[in-house]
Amino acid sequence: MKISESCAIITGGSSGLGGATARNFVAGGAKVAIFDTNVAKGEALAAEFGEDGLFVQTDVTSEENLKSAIKKTLDQFGKISVCVNCAGIGAAQKTMGKEGPHSLGLYRTVLDVNLTGTFNTLRLAVEAMEENEPNADGERGVIVNTASVAAFDGQKGQVAYSASKGGIVGMTLPIARDLAYYGIRVCAIAPGLFLTPLFEGLGQEVVDSLSTQVTFPKRLGDPAEFGMLARTIVENPYLNGETIRLDGAIRLP
Ligand SMILES: NC(=O)c1ccc[n+]([C@@H]2O[C@H](COP(=O)([O-])OP(=O)(O)OC[C@H]3O[C@@H](n4cnc5c(N)ncnc54)[C@H](O)[C@@H]3O)[C@@H](O)[C@H]2O)c1
Repeated sequence: MKISESCAIITGGSSGLGGATARNFVAGGAKVAIFDTNVAKGEALAAEFGEDGLFVQTDVTSEENLKSAIKKTLDQFGKISVCVNCAGIGAAQKTMGKEGPHSLGLYRTVLDVNLTGTFNTLRLAVEAMEENEPNADGERGVIVNTASVAAFDGQKGQVAYSASKGGIVGMTLPIARDLAYYGIRVCAIAPGLFLTPLFEGLGQEVVDSLSTQVTFPKRLGDPAEFGMLARTIVENPYLNGETIRLDGAIRLP
């Protein structure tokens, strides 16, 4: 699917990997609607995009929020052909620790935002994509979900996060199969360590130490590199049903 003819919704688009994807898509001629809870950053980025951008304050866990955000996008841009899911949160707690068993509330919150929020968004985006005229390749839409290398090599304290990202990996193929009839493709990206606000706050020493764990190149990922892969998934019609690691060959110890 040509990026220049795309109208994309990007959850988590106010910041980090989603923000970089929004920049890449708009530079390629796409229209982009940012769905995020961070109003200040989302509005500032959408303002940079002028008529090609829209920000809608949206909590991906809410069906009502999503329906209204999708309606606003359709009113403004006329269609939705791409859905990129980057909204996500982290958590650090062990299954059993000094303070007792893992909080069930925290576990549920992480699963709710990262996994259910992704599914909530894409199922409603598909309802809009289904209305599109198929292009020459028979495509009506493309979905890009964000997993993590923690889906495969999760570390201590990452049980909730890894479970949520494992869920993203696991649902990729059945969604591709479900949506083939409609001409909609889906892939997931499993990033390694990327220099987003999350890591920027940790300081240079920690960033340098994490960088040594990457096989090559010996640095954290640049969010722009995530945006490049998201765009490739949109543009390459034969990519479907797959999770792609984007990680400089890191394997978390
Ligand atoms: N940065 C990394 O190294 C890395 C590695 C692997 C996976 N990931 C994943 O990539 C995605 C983006 O992460 P990032 O590093 O860009 O983080 P980030 O914090 O910069 O961006 C995440 C965005 O999601 C938004 N968000 C959080 N909860 C939301 C909700 N309920 N509804 C709508 N928006 C919500 C936040 O406001 C924020 O703008 C996440 O799913 C994360 O798990 C990141």
